[in-house]
Amino acid sequence: MRVLVLYQSRGGNTRIAAEAVAKAARDEGHTVTTKSVIEVQKSDIENADALFIGTWIQGFILFGVKPAGATLWVPALPSLQGKPVGIFCTYAFNPRGSLQALGELLTAKGAHIVGQRAFHRSSVGEGAQAYVRSVLEAVVTA
Ligand SMILES: Cc1cc2nc3c(=O)[nH]c(=O)nc-3n(C[C@H](O)[C@H](O)[C@H](O)COP(=O)(O)O)c2cc1C
Repeated sequence: MRVLVLYQSRGGNTRIAAEAVAKAARDEGHTVTTKSVIEVQKSDIENADALFIGTWIQGFILFGVKPAGATLWVPALPSLQGKPVGIFCTYAFNPRGSLQALGELLTAKGAHIVGQRAFHRSSVGEGAQAYVRSVLEAVVTA
């Protein structure tokens, strides 16, 4: 499969998580492209059979916790109509409802959410292989 990994990162943790996700997909034999949500083109998405989209979490630990900037950058993405998407985030304390919120925004762009994973910033990428495998298996059997 052709896999596209998109990330939104401020300090680099989510970019590292995206690279771990990309490596895991490559290790499964897939063709993988990694880009930030800023640089992605319509053709990148059209050419992908499956996507992973990840962000960092921003908030005040107990309240206002959300996928950083997602209400701005998700609507700016090209259409995700019919695309299977695994979502992920990196966080420091607790991602709370952030992955659900990200999933809802991406669903409004036409994405079909097939898996999710939160990576603590102290162990970014840990468990990426199992996460990627379960998402890509769900795509194949869909
Ligand atoms: C301004 C700011 C607010 C944050 N708020 C939260 C939060 O409410 N909950 C949480 O779990 N992590 C929070 N974090 C931690 C980040 O989500 C975490 O460090 C993440 O890995 C950063 O990703 P990045 O390096 O890709 O930007 C916050 C970080 C910053 C800079």
